[in-house]
Amino acid sequence: MLEVKELTIVVNGATVVNRSSFFIPNGKITAMIGESGSGKSMTVAALLKILPAGANTSGEIRYKSANLLEATKEEVTAIRKNEFFTIFQDAMNSFNPSIKMDRQLYAFSAGRIGEDHTTYRKKMKDILGKLGLSADILDRYPFELSGGMLQRCMIACALYVKPALLIADEPTSALDKVVQKEFLKWLRLLNENGTTVLLITHDLDVVTGLADEMIVMQKGEIVETGTVSEIFSRPTHDYTKRLLDSRF
Ligand SMILES: Nc1ncnc2c1ncn2[C@@H]1O[C@H](COP(=O)(O)OP(=O)(O)OP(=O)(O)O)[C@@H](O)[C@H]1O
Ligand SMILES: [Mg+2]
Repeated sequence: MLEVKELTIVVNGATVVNRSSFFIPNGKITAMIGESGSGKSMTVAALLKILPAGANTSGEIRYKSANLLEATKEEVTAIRKNEFFTIFQDAMNSFNPSIKMDRQLYAFSAGRIGEDHTTYRKKMKDILGKLGLSADILDRYPFELSGGMLQRCMIACALYVKPALLIADEPTSALDKVVQKEFLKWLRLLNENGTTVLLITHDLDVVTGLADEMIVMQKGEIVETGTVSEIFSRPTHDYTKRLLDSRF
């Protein structure tokens, strides 16, 4: 699905990602885990071409026949719009506080795939219902909804557009445990419907509960990749061993 080769990211002279190589297999859930500051979000920013000003990159990010690092902003924007969907930690920041949910969810879902508003209302109400949300939320403003509800709205849009790849950067860390579990259930549903998932997380329970494959990062480098069961039964890198030990 997506292959990263020797990705290096330098921000204002500091190397934040160093010769990182990994593969995100089609149809699977891949978790990326690593300590704070290890370069997970920077890697995601490189995939989406949203690195901060002053960042330089080298290496390759292969998606289908394109190298996203060399593709133009317009080409990457088109891929993001048609094939990727991203969910960030703080759902509130993903919404405009002065626009009602109806218009915003339309823009994140039906609008992206060129469906009209009538079709959208019907389909979105169904999806919201499945997620335990009443259609009334469409007439509310984002600040009238909880973080968990907003995150569910994001999942609703993802379920609507059925993206080829969902990238979620710590989508559950602002949610309480119960809502977190629910959220993971919806991620699984999305995956069962054909979406490949890249999930960035701090939480090993999330990895074991959900992911097929994992990528372990430490200080800007990938120290281990493999299936979750392989790595949990035979961690090879010291950092991974310590990470797994820290669970008990
Ligand atoms: N906008 C920025 N400008 C310059 N350096 C940055 C910027 N954002 C992050 N960094 C640096 O890049 C490095 C990697 O940060 P990154 O945000 O990718 O870590 P992370 O693994 O996502 O951490 P966390 O788990 O806390 O989200 C860190 O050293 C950080 O200080
Ligand atoms: Mg991060």
